[in-house]
Amino acid sequence: MNVKIQLENSVSLYKRREKRSNELIKQKMILEGVEILKPIIFDVDTGIDDAMAMAYALNSPELEVLGFTTCFGNVPVVDSTRNTLAVLEKLNRRIPVYEGADQSLVRGKKKRYPKHVHGEDGLGNTLRFEPTIKASQGNAADFIIDQVQRRPHEITIIAVGPLTNIALAINKAPMIMSLVKEVVIMGGAVNVPGNVTPYAEANIISDPEAAHQVLTSGLPITLVGLDVTLQTYLLKSKLDDWRATGKESAEFLAEMTDYYMKAYENSHPGLGGCALHDPLAVGVAIDSSFVRTEWMNVKVVTEGEEAGRTIGQQDGEPRIRVCTNVESELFLKHFLERVI
Ligand code: BDR
Ligand code: CA
Repeated sequence: MNVKIQLENSVSLYKRREKRSNELIKQKMILEGVEILKPIIFDVDTGIDDAMAMAYALNSPELEVLGFTTCFGNVPVVDSTRNTLAVLEKLNRRIPVYEGADQSLVRGKKKRYPKHVHGEDGLGNTLRFEPTIKASQGNAADFIIDQVQRRPHEITIIAVGPLTNIALAINKAPMIMSLVKEVVIMGGAVNVPGNVTPYAEANIISDPEAAHQVLTSGLPITLVGLDVTLQTYLLKSKLDDWRATGKESAEFLAEMTDYYMKAYENSHPGLGGCALHDPLAVGVAIDSSFVRTEWMNVKVVTEGEEAGRTIGQQDGEPRIRVCTNVESELFLKHFLERVI
């Protein structure tokens, strides 16, 4: 046997032993009742509901957030990175942040950002400081590839912005697709109208080509779209409870959410609150029993008036889990117990 084959054999033996020993450790932890953390990569376009989702995830003991990756979307990517760092600083947490895509795969830079929803700064004009913590060296797609390869079949990606970083990662290293445990995506509107056009939801229309690639890639995806997020409302009165805690981070979140709720007042008069889009994706990653899902093949329209539309069909492959119903009361209780 030549040296190369010998080396390959011993590497594969080592990997098999390492896998077996990780499995034994896990079994032991289960027997001892020790909670096993879910390792997460959290892809954001921080935005107000992204900020709420970050706080919810970071206060959830089931999740081990390995890092945040940022994308353009609610704001340009540099602002998305800055906002992510600012939220971490307010929450007093130090987690690596990797900057990602500043434009869509084929359409170039976004022409207009939704300032009427998320403010000039993306955080409801509440940002009165520059974060002192800095983003990590390296880019979002490479961080995703590296982490997934280091921890095969373990990592859940939660993606709550345009799907550009995920598309870039799978295009650069297609082999990671079979190594990702799950991808929970906030995006799309399968059986309901869109929120940017009558057809399209914001994250999908920001990069329809990336969304189409990701949703039809064969990755194990759960799609948390407007079908369910528009059934999860946070009412304004809850912000008083947040403020009453006296925490600086609670005041920060309450102030920006106030702005978000005012935007909702224009689009949904009389609602008295806002939808919890991105937080619901975190909720589903923690506990999938919050939602009912249906297996569907989902394609994204990339041309014409219906661009950004997510079309779900029972037939066709590959199929992903599309959330069609949510236990809103249970989810809201869970979210409120943790976000502050
Ligand atoms: C999605 O679009 C963004 O504005 C929000 O942060 C959320 O991810 C809702 O359509
Ligand atoms: Ca978002």
